[in-house]
Amino acid sequence: MTGSMKGLVLAGGKGSRLRPLTATGAKQLMPVANKPVLFYALEQLVEAGITEIGIVTGETADQVRAVVGDGSAFGARIAYLPQEAPLGLAHAIRTGERWLDDSPFCMFLGDNFLMGGIADHARQFVDSGARGQILLKRVHDPSAFGVAVLDESGRVVRLVEKPKERISDLAVIGVYFFGPEIHQITPTLTPSARGELEITDAIQGLIDAGYEVQSSLIAAEWIDTGKKDDMLEANRLVLGSIQRRIDGTVDEASTLVGPVIVEAGARVLGSTVRGPAVIGAGATLVDSYVGPFTAIGPHCVLDGCEIEHSIVLDHSTVRHVGRRIADSLIGREVVIETSPLKPQAIRLMVGDHSVVDVV
Ligand code: DAU
Repeated sequence: MTGSMKGLVLAGGKGSRLRPLTATGAKQLMPVANKPVLFYALEQLVEAGITEIGIVTGETADQVRAVVGDGSAFGARIAYLPQEAPLGLAHAIRTGERWLDDSPFCMFLGDNFLMGGIADHARQFVDSGARGQILLKRVHDPSAFGVAVLDESGRVVRLVEKPKERISDLAVIGVYFFGPEIHQITPTLTPSARGELEITDAIQGLIDAGYEVQSSLIAAEWIDTGKKDDMLEANRLVLGSIQRRIDGTVDEASTLVGPVIVEAGARVLGSTVRGPAVIGAGATLVDSYVGPFTAIGPHCVLDGCEIEHSIVLDHSTVRHVGRRIADSLIGREVVIETSPLKPQAIRLMVGDHSVVDVV
């Protein structure tokens, strides 16, 4: 029975690795196949029978509230839990402590994307009677994550946050299950070198206090959507399983190939869309090519251009660009166009921390 379990979704923190896109916007609202990555976490919690969900928020609380609302659209009841500052994942548990009360809970990092959901893991946690459960994934570069060291019997013996030396290649993914015992541990923690109360230290504390912490190695695809290529990969995974749906307009001169979604109010004119791809509501494509694994956001305009394996956020315009755009993440209200102005040069107005590859 996962019914008494609550969900704690973390949507605070800083989005430094996706700047400038997240300079003002919440990174958990970055779209994957035109849907905020945070929504996948909420949907998967509800799918697992967890409908009482607390969202920990930071500076971007208003944006998160505006898109998630009271949770009824997800079949959930949402409580908002403002965190005074991004002081760490274990601090976020302290922020939620009173709301969580003595319920067991699933903590889900709002920027983590996990294929296949969490229902089996939630059931396994409840059935096991353990006081903590973590999910592990073998990764090439463990230094970017919290990692777990297991003994010969597969028991978790040690957890280290972003290890400098390679002590394990098992990353701890951002979906955790805890009993209320974790609240005995979090107040005893001290900030790490990066100034945060680390979740790895909290789990280590549970183990050291003699509580059982289970782990399972997952085969499912998991992405910490912190960087551009991770966003593109999550986008590719979701688009890989879409079904064709045409709610917008496609003219006679256009060709749609494979799984393509054209949302309501979108217009595809004299263009080719080769799926899997999604064209957002109210977007317009004219004389353009949209290739596989591309998500065009709502109200974008593409005119005389080619793009593939890319994400374009809402209200952006790409016009008469001579080369095909690929592997790109384009923000909101961006304009990319060929200018008739002389001299023929690349003229840019690019935000801080942007990356532009020119050939
Ligand atoms: O993605 C998995 C990794 O997530 C784990 O392997 C690490 O052990 C864990 O510490 C965490 O590492 P990150 O450095 O990637 O965490 P990040 O700062 O990106 O925060 C994760 C999410 O939690 C993100 O959506 C922001 C939110 N957050 C973060 C902090 C520090 C909060 O809501 N409050 C916070 O205080």
